[in-house]
Amino acid sequence: MIPEEADKMNAQQLLDRLEIPVIAAPMFLVSNPALALAACAEGVMGSYPAHGTRSAEQFEAWLNETIEGVRRLEGETGAKVAPFAVNLVVHASNPRMQGDLELCIRYRVPVVLSSKGAPGEAVKRIHDYGGIVLHDVANQRHAEKALEAGVDGVIAVAGGAGGHTGTINPFALLNEIRRIHHGIVVLAGGMTTGRDVLAAQAMGADLAYLGTRFIATTEAGAAEGHKRMIVDSKATDVFFSASIDGAPANWLTKSLIAAGVDLDQLRTTLPGKIVSAQESKKRWKDIWTAGHGVGNIDAVLGTAELCRRLKAEYAAARKAVRATIDGAASS
Ligand SMILES: Cc1cc2nc3c(=O)[nH]c(=O)nc-3n(C[C@H](O)[C@H](O)[C@H](O)COP(=O)(O)O)c2cc1C
Repeated sequence: MIPEEADKMNAQQLLDRLEIPVIAAPMFLVSNPALALAACAEGVMGSYPAHGTRSAEQFEAWLNETIEGVRRLEGETGAKVAPFAVNLVVHASNPRMQGDLELCIRYRVPVVLSSKGAPGEAVKRIHDYGGIVLHDVANQRHAEKALEAGVDGVIAVAGGAGGHTGTINPFALLNEIRRIHHGIVVLAGGMTTGRDVLAAQAMGADLAYLGTRFIATTEAGAAEGHKRMIVDSKATDVFFSASIDGAPANWLTKSLIAAGVDLDQLRTTLPGKIVSAQESKKRWKDIWTAGHGVGNIDAVLGTAELCRRLKAEYAAARKAVRATIDGAASS
């Protein structure tokens, strides 16, 4: 079901269509249309990576399922359904890049989350149909290059994020990015609660990007063992290394050990050089990633319940912070 008209949105309109400034971040082998739709129904932007599908045909099927789902929800509830987003790896090494981009254009995906490489030509084509592009960055230089390419905003991936991560402290990273960009900034890394979302706004972000928290949901396509390990882990069970798949990433230590990875070798290997695991164990499928936020996740919830909890925590935190500020002003 291809939308007939471009759903033109500017940054503010994008925020206005959310009940809470949260994006359920795209996660390989985890996010899918069911998770994205359940989030969108609760006013949280849902997303998935195009490369989370096996083929362009399957990606197109996911797009159809999502767009039909949004229409159904709008018809059923008449309520505000959040726009959805797709992650597109725009690096030249992605052989599906061109075909997946064409599908995003044909289906007028409202928000494209571009990652790796330079978004360049893709930005213009996405803008032509009224889409918004937010690009993943880990430092100010990445942000500068993405903004030069015309993106609408950046996703600042700080240290402690799940998946491929940044390494810079979130305060430092946001401050550096705010020196060069006054438009949309999304903050990523370690957030699990509505109070964290409010804190991200206080730091100068417009939106919060939550990945790991959404792995522990019933809709997530993650292996049951991955979900269980998330619930059972603390931040100290997360191992940072660029030697599992070549890029800096945070991995669950217990899954590294279970896959036969030698942790001592991992600690002493130069970044980018790969440390082997048992033949049968695959990165991402058997070696699992998570951010530092794991220690605050103690149950697998339905996505709707999680989103409602985030909204309630956010409202309570706003009230509490307001009371603290008013108290301080009157004393
Ligand atoms: C299991 C997993 C898979 C991920 N896969 C992708 C991906 O395919 N594309 C992407 O842009 N980011 C990916 N990420 C990163 C997330 O989109 C997001 O930046 C990150 O999860 C935010 O940090 P948090 O996990 O601490 O909340 C992944 C993260 C996790 C945990």
